[in-house]
This record gives sequence, C-alpha cells and structure tokens, in this order.
Amino acid sequence: MTFVAAIDQGTTSTRCILFDDSGTPVASAQREHAQLLPRPGWVEHDPREIWANTREVVGEALARAGVSSTDIAAVGITNQRETTVVWDRRTGEPVYNAIVWQDTRTDRLVRELGGRGGGADRYRDVTGLPLATYFSGPKAAWILDNVDGARARAERGDLLLGTIDSWLLWNLTGGPEGGVHLTDVTNASRTMLMDLHSLSWDPAIAGDLGIPLAMLPEIRSSSEVYGTVRTLGELSGVPITAALGDQQAATFGQVCFEPGMAKNTYGTGNFVLLNTGEKAAGSANGLLTTVAYQLGGQRPAYALEGSIAVTGSLVQWLRDNLGLIETAPEIETLARTVEDNGGAYFVPAFSGLFAPHWRSDARGALVGLTRYVGKGHLARAVLEATAFQVREVVDAMNADAGLALTELRADGGMVGNELLMQFQADLLDVPVLRPRVTETTALGAAYAAGLAVGFWAGQDELAALWAEDKRWLPGMAPDVRERELRQWSKAVRRTLEWVD
Ligand code: G3P
Repeated sequence: MTFVAAIDQGTTSTRCILFDDSGTPVASAQREHAQLLPRPGWVEHDPREIWANTREVVGEALARAGVSSTDIAAVGITNQRETTVVWDRRTGEPVYNAIVWQDTRTDRLVRELGGRGGGADRYRDVTGLPLATYFSGPKAAWILDNVDGARARAERGDLLLGTIDSWLLWNLTGGPEGGVHLTDVTNASRTMLMDLHSLSWDPAIAGDLGIPLAMLPEIRSSSEVYGTVRTLGELSGVPITAALGDQQAATFGQVCFEPGMAKNTYGTGNFVLLNTGEKAAGSANGLLTTVAYQLGGQRPAYALEGSIAVTGSLVQWLRDNLGLIETAPEIETLARTVEDNGGAYFVPAFSGLFAPHWRSDARGALVGLTRYVGKGHLARAVLEATAFQVREVVDAMNADAGLALTELRADGGMVGNELLMQFQADLLDVPVLRPRVTETTALGAAYAAGLAVGFWAGQDELAALWAEDKRWLPGMAPDVRERELRQWSKAVRRTLEWVD
C-alpha cells in the first residue's frame, strides 16, 4: 500500500490528491462546479454535480498516478463546512440544492430565534457558535419549511440531512443500497445542532428548528473506519477512515497539534484556527469555539476560530463580475503597478460580516475614493482586505487567549501571492510561514485517514514531516501600521451603517 487518497470537496471545486508516506502529493485532479446564485444573498450547489465530480476526480487522480485501489491504504474526506443537503434515503435524490455556507437567506429565521430569548448568544454555551446564517441548522429548517412536502417526508423518516461529508460518505458506501449515514465531530460542530461538550445532537435546538433527530447522521470521531467504498470502481473496497471539515483538516495538515499553535487558510474565505487543546475555550471577542479534531476514542482537541467569509472570492469577483483581471494570479501583477492603495479600502461584506462582527446585515463598501484611484489601487485594496480581516480576527484571538500569537502558519491558494503575504506579516507584526506542502487541507484528511489504518505511526511522525518553505518577516513602521488599521476600522464601520 503506497498511498493515501484525500477527497477535498471545497466551495468552488472538488479535488482528489494522492499522498505518499512522506506527505508529498504525487498526483491530483480537480473539477470546478457551478455556483448557483438565484437571488441576492442566495448561494447554492447541485449535490449531484458534486458527487459526479467526486467520482471523476478520483478516477483521474488514480489514472495519473498509474495506480489502482490495491495501492491505496485509505481514503479521507474533507469538505466545505456548513453547506447543507437534504435527500431521499430511498432514491438518493436531493429534495433541494445544497444551501451553501455563504448563503444569507435564513437571516429572518436567525433573528426570530434570537428574539425568543438569548439574542445572538442563544446557543453559544451549548454549540460554541453565535446565531448566524452561516451554520447548517437554519439552512436545513429553511428546506423543510419551503420545499413542498419536505417536512411531512422528513417526519415519516424518508429524508436524510447532512453536510457534504455525509452526502459523500453515504454515496461512496452504497447510497440507497446500504450507504452509511455518518458525520464527524468537526463537521457536526458547525451545524449549530451539536452540543460541543457531549459531542451529541442537542434535541432542544433541533426542536426549536423543527428538525427531526432521525434525519441526522450519527456523529463519529474524525479518524476511524466508517465503511468501505462500494460505488466508485477505482477505489472499490478501500476503507474510508477520515472526515474533517476543511479548515480543521488544514489545521491537522499544518500539524497544529499543540495548544497555542495556529494556522490560517487563504481560500475563498479565510479561517484562522488556534488549537486550545482539550479545553473548549469560550470567546468574548466574536470567535467561534469548534472541534479541531478527534482521533478515534481519544479526547477531542478544540479550537478557537476566526471565520472570514470573503477573501479569495473577492479576487474572483474582480475577475468574474468586473472583468478587471482575466485570471486570479493577475491580481498581484496589477497591484504591483502602484506603490500603495491610493487611499482606497474595500470591505467585502458580501455575506454580511463574519468574525469578529457577526453582522448578517452588513453590506460591502469601497471607500476613500478620489479621482486619483485607478485599477492598480483597487487591486491593492482587494488584496489588503484579506490581510486586514485576518488582523481583526488575530486581535480577537489574542484577547480571548490572553496571549499574543508569535507566528502564523499560512496555507491555501493565495499563499503564492508574495505581496499579500508580506503585507500580512507587516500588519500582524509577526512572521508568516508557508510550509513546503501548501495543500494542507487534503494533507490533513490524508493524515487522519492514514493514522486510522497505521499508514503513519502517530502524530509525532506527522509533526516531523512539516517543513518550512518560506517565511515573511514584518517590516512596517508601527505608526504606518496604526494608521492603516485606523482607516480600515473606519471603512468597516461604513458597512455596518449601510442597512436602515
Ligand atoms: O466554513 C466554510 C469553509 O469550510 C469553506 O472553505 O476552502 O471551501 O472556501 P473553502
């Protein structure tokens, strides 16, 4: 057995990557899926397209490596979190598209729940989460309330509910013919339906949302044998032994195993996770408390998370909606045509603002404009928006943890952007480190899957595989940094003032 396969089902694409025992990617394949935007604030994916893409990328990655199922020790799944699917257990047909984590249609429901008492913190003690449109529970309630006949079918026990990990696990292990209906603790911790301390579904919250408990998957650890692949020829008979939400997987892939270690993934959004060990540390500063991972029967490790909805997707927006660039990497070339942002600040509150503000009603703003501002300055403002938002959540993390972060491990698509990484180090005033393998999300799923079958001996072996590729050292004068941060805060305030 020479490889572990990771299926990484993300917001914009699905990938399969094979890793060898040194944690090096040896082959991969990727497919984008459609972003369905039927109304302002609504974001959907077609779950059948995601399943079809999964099958294709697995076949392609194995073909590229020239290997078959007998060369694969285990499969790990990692996925965009919170995105919610409801499907028929007999036909496998989804009753509605997947409602994506960025979708804000449940705004009214979320406010109404808060109004029943407890406000935004109504479920925080139990779930570690503020009431927000981001999480799965309200999305599932929306489907049951708005799809004809769905609630009656759910109550009869005909429908299953799950995040994308569950959807893939069920399909991979047999679908209507005996597919297992499971999720892992990290994904479950994002539904707003799980008690973070007992790691079981909370009947009172499910009751508030009108979600029958029988629809929900069984909650398991992040690293154990869930079942074997039965419906995907190339992987037939291979055990599926890991599932983690993509940000937790990246934390695992960055081997942030010790309390105090943190990573930031620069993807469509940005997600900073700080390992807090066996303690589910609460946040007084707008962060989430979440499960980082649980290996088999061991005690879970928890994390504090700063979730930022729009970072890389702002670059895509500049490409797709404005046509200012043709490919995402061109943003850096354009930004380098000027020295600074020319006074422009861009707050991309497209899905409201997530951490640390949690304001679903915020809307994006581009401020500080004069006639001097050109597209190079806009490109800078777009890149800087990512770094400013990260600085905000790191400030919250330092305040919550009562200590100052000393370095940040970075990964994800945007870490190839030198300008952004330098600006990030400057703004945070700590070094930013890029590892040799930047596919840390898939790597984390592979690591957790490999551990379950003895492909790797333990976490110490994994920690020893981490290698630094590059580090950016802070170099900005303190007064410049302070001024930039002040300007950014003013810009953020504009987005909060927008809605009547
Ligand atoms: O919580 C949402 C997050 O899991 C999405 O990650 O990388 O698919 O944008 P990504």
